Amino acid sequence: MAVLNGDRIVAALRGAFARDAGRQGLLQLAADRIQAAGPPYTSVYLYMLHGDMLELEAFTGRVTDHTRIPVGKGVCGTAVATGEDQNVGDVRAIGNYLACNLDTRSELVVLIRRGDTILGQIDVDSDVPDPFTPEEEAETRKVADALAVLL
Ligand code: SME
Repeated sequence: MAVLNGDRIVAALRGAFARDAGRQGLLQLAADRIQAAGPPYTSVYLYMLHGDMLELEAFTGRVTDHTRIPVGKGVCGTAVATGEDQNVGDVRAIGNYLACNLDTRSELVVLIRRGDTILGQIDVDSDVPDPFTPEEEAETRKVADALAVLL
């Protein structure tokens, strides 16, 4: 059983959409609700794609200096460049990691896709080593897929 309950967050997003929460409201709600699941969800960043740049539009948790990330840079930019979600169990072991702080041990990036188009991504930082099981990934993907429809 996963720590994250994606269905509950999707229901909250649909409710917010019905109340005209708007793009910013939906992105912030997603970040807040994912982080509220607790460890391993330490910090949650919603980067949205604008041309060749990922721009941080909402986050919950630790502040980051990386508010704009070019496609191809870091774990986040690699996800867009390759079209593949990224599950990095040990960020210290990879060369292209953009460090935000010294406490983060692992990172999960799930793309927000509408058909063939990448709209952005959910980026989760964790202080826990290698915590993102296929079940956690699947629950995070539910949130990403709901955002693709509602944004
Ligand atoms: N670690 C990311 C940068 C974003 S911060 O984690 C919020 C990366 O390597 O792309």
